[in-house]
Amino acid sequence: MSPAPSGGAEWWDERYSHPNLLYGFRPNNFLVEAEVMLPRAARVLVLCDGEGRNGVWLAGQGHHVVSVDFSAVAVQKARALADQRGVNVETHCAELGEWIGTPAAEGPWDGVVSIFCHLAPELRRQVGEALTPRMKDRSTLIIESYTPAQLSLGTGGPRNEALLLTRQRVIDEWPGMALDIRIAERRVFEGMAHQGLSAVIQVLGQPRR
Ligand SMILES: C[S@@+](CC[C@H](N)C(=O)[O-])C[C@H]1O[C@@H](n2cnc3c(N)ncnc32)[C@H](O)[C@@H]1O
Repeated sequence: MSPAPSGGAEWWDERYSHPNLLYGFRPNNFLVEAEVMLPRAARVLVLCDGEGRNGVWLAGQGHHVVSVDFSAVAVQKARALADQRGVNVETHCAELGEWIGTPAAEGPWDGVVSIFCHLAPELRRQVGEALTPRMKDRSTLIIESYTPAQLSLGTGGPRNEALLLTRQRVIDEWPGMALDIRIAERRVFEGMAHQGLSAVIQVLGQPRR
């Protein structure tokens, strides 16, 4: 499948209208590794959760999951996956920049998860600024995304460099967080859209109080 330029909600709707799950049904490997940082029955916000593979998996681990994505097609698939797995996920079909201004976004959150959430720099800053004060003292931020080095690998992700993450961008966009950042190359096999050796950034963060 060709790499995603990362468009608006309608563009994503079209992409998700394939009968298969674009990123598969298994959770992201880094999320599985990092979930140990969350308390039991945590209140977890999953940003840009797409077809719900991550939110549904977290709900299956006993967490209270709020899942946000602006693609109506993806959210419908996420609900179907949750039903299939017999778990409860609170889904919101909304544009993230607008949703973070609503009461539903207030939390407080034990965890905020952002897996391959390719947002424009201004929106990323807005999200980091809005959510940091709404994270509990020992809560955890979990991010995995592509770095600009992914552009030459072509195994998934957007072609627009501004949507990719660097160490400095994460530091600037989450200024209130103590961050543990790993830049890595790893094999990512997630559905049809993420296939092969990939240049990723993996982040764990906790609010600096
Ligand atoms: C690469 S997909 C990743 C989906 C999911 N996190 C996963 O790993 O399976 C990026 C997702 O971000 C969503 N998205 C992009 N921009 C958004 C925005 N401004 N507000 C809400 N969702 C957005 C898209 O609809 C898409 O589902």
